[in-house]
Amino acid sequence: LKTPIIREPDGSYVISSYRLVTQLLSDPRISSDARIRGPEDKAARAAASSEFPAGFIRTDPPEHDRLRRMVTRQFGPPHTPDLIDSMKQELATIVNKLLDTLQGRTRLDIVDDYAYPFPVTIICKLLGVPQEDEPRFHEWADAIVMGLDPHPQTSADHPVMDAVEARNQLGHYMAKLILEHQQHPGTDMLSKLTTDQGPDGTLPLGDLISTSVLLLIAGHETTVNLQTNGMLTLLRNPSILEQLRNDPDLAIPLVEELLRFEPPVQFNSQRTVAADITIDGVTIPKGSPIYMMLAAADRDPARFPDPDRFWPERPDNQHLGFGSGIHYCFGAPLARLEVQIALNTLAQRLINPRLVEDPPPYRQSAVLRGPRHLLVD
Ligand code: HEM
Repeated sequence: LKTPIIREPDGSYVISSYRLVTQLLSDPRISSDARIRGPEDKAARAAASSEFPAGFIRTDPPEHDRLRRMVTRQFGPPHTPDLIDSMKQELATIVNKLLDTLQGRTRLDIVDDYAYPFPVTIICKLLGVPQEDEPRFHEWADAIVMGLDPHPQTSADHPVMDAVEARNQLGHYMAKLILEHQQHPGTDMLSKLTTDQGPDGTLPLGDLISTSVLLLIAGHETTVNLQTNGMLTLLRNPSILEQLRNDPDLAIPLVEELLRFEPPVQFNSQRTVAADITIDGVTIPKGSPIYMMLAAADRDPARFPDPDRFWPERPDNQHLGFGSGIHYCFGAPLARLEVQIALNTLAQRLINPRLVEDPPPYRQSAVLRGPRHLLVD
């Protein structure tokens, strides 16, 4: 690209260099609240017509910080290292059980058989959501993720529910569950959130709904895609797969390199310029939608030498696969561990895996990149 700042015909801006993406993701003049756009804007209309408040990923400070703090009190530092450590064994048991049920099969779909059920099981357990309702989350999550796309494409073989409708249905589902957890609290996160009496007070029901919906959705399809992109990359690089089989600790830097090289989240959607900004001589006017291309920034040769090479031992790999700035992924420690364990277990247990189709069919989403199916013999 000649310039890392592009103005699209619809008046939105696309930013693609590492330097500018990181700079703008820490700039308070870039808002995550779609309501500041005009009423004719699709994202603003969707936010306004939702029955529930936006999750904190779609809010700005101080609202964002207040809501994120409430969740951090239950799940973030200082709990995170211990909590994540205590989950290692459980995660390994879950993936191994999953593979046991697939024993004897000559062909696997890494997406449907493995990558999908694993993170759903974990997030449902953590939050305290019944796992048997998983098929419903699948449909809602699909629709909500599709709604992030600036130009969504649906097809006859893959019809998708309206994103606002999906969010409203999931919101009502969570509302019922929250009331049950308030009456009979357990040790899960939903119980802790509903009963917490922190310095910010107790979360009102609307915020509890939006926060739990966000936690359920944000860690769902993203983790599926990182596992699948990971397995695809390993199958395309058999010597690295062999290295991983012999050295499970390689999974730690390997997952970081995957987040740079094949990131599930390609760009930050639904950001808006809240006040005129001039960068590198270009003035971006207030009200413009702006897209930060995380995936492009992570292939920026000015930041990453030999950017198109998949290189797990890459030094100084400060990738943007989990975003940057105040909206940096809340679930990063959990996601890292899930994918490290998922890939290590596949590397150990699949004997001579062979990719059936390369490239595999991809999901129809610009924001979220990953195969729809990944068949392996
Ligand atoms: C935010 C990626 C897994 C919860 C983000 C953002 C990215 C991201 C790029 C920034 C979005 C933005 O700036 O607009 C990923 C990837 C994952 C993953 C690639 C898996 C490999 C998870 C998991 C959870 C989670 C497992 C929950 C347990 C969140 C939340 C936010 C977020 C709550 C919003 C943070 C905020 O607005 O302050 N994630 N995520 N994510 N993620 Fe993740």
